[in-house]
Amino acid sequence: MKHYTIEEVKSWDRFYRGNFINSISGFKSVSLIGTVDQDNNANLAIFSNIVHLGADPALIGFINRPREASPHTLANIESTHCYTINHIQEEFVEKAHQTSAKYDSKESEFDKTGLTPLWTDDSKAPYVKESKVRYALELQEIIPLKKNNTFLVVGSLKDIYVPKVAVQPDGFVDLSSVGTLTSLGLDGYYKTSLLSRYSYAKPNLQPARLDN
Ligand SMILES: Cc1cc2nc3c(=O)[nH]c(=O)nc-3n(C[C@H](O)[C@H](O)[C@H](O)COP(=O)(O)O)c2cc1C
Repeated sequence: MKHYTIEEVKSWDRFYRGNFINSISGFKSVSLIGTVDQDNNANLAIFSNIVHLGADPALIGFINRPREASPHTLANIESTHCYTINHIQEEFVEKAHQTSAKYDSKESEFDKTGLTPLWTDDSKAPYVKESKVRYALELQEIIPLKKNNTFLVVGSLKDIYVPKVAVQPDGFVDLSSVGTLTSLGLDGYYKTSLLSRYSYAKPNLQPARLDN
């Protein structure tokens, strides 16, 4: 195994270093975030730094890069407090990736990529019709991270759409059964398959398999 020190990593070319560091924290919850501005112009962008923060209350966070780098989603959430998160499946992964391009604030990534906005009574922000797993959030808190000018955006879960077949009798949602993808780094997308599930671990007790 090769040992890299951070001093060595810092000496690398910017793009090589970015790819390396972006990959090393592991596979991520890549999704499309749908928002609107004050005039109801739709915006859609791909995000992968999305994390479960707690089940009760149900809170989900994501990291927004510095404002200059990723401005529109953040500004729209600040003004409307509402956003949707939509999982990505193989059928539209290329279009999903394309939403990361720097479009003008008045240009909708829905129009530019051909993805379909889905407007519902429960959310001001559009869902992505093509997505098989979607949910809406209400903004709770935006926490600036001083060290690198990024933001932790915390939302509470409001509405969830998921195919019934994916929800197992104990509430576990088998996302691989509906083809949700995962990502690595800033441009790698992976299919998923369930390896195993285990019972709640207790000291000195071998966990039981739950998946067979
Ligand atoms: C696979 C992938 C994952 C990304 N994840 C994030 C992320 O977690 N946070 C972020 O701020 N930008 C992320 N980006 C970059 C945004 O998609 C990009 O900056 C986009 O233009 C932001 O759009 P907006 O200004 O409409 O919000 C990611 C890009 C790709 C390709």
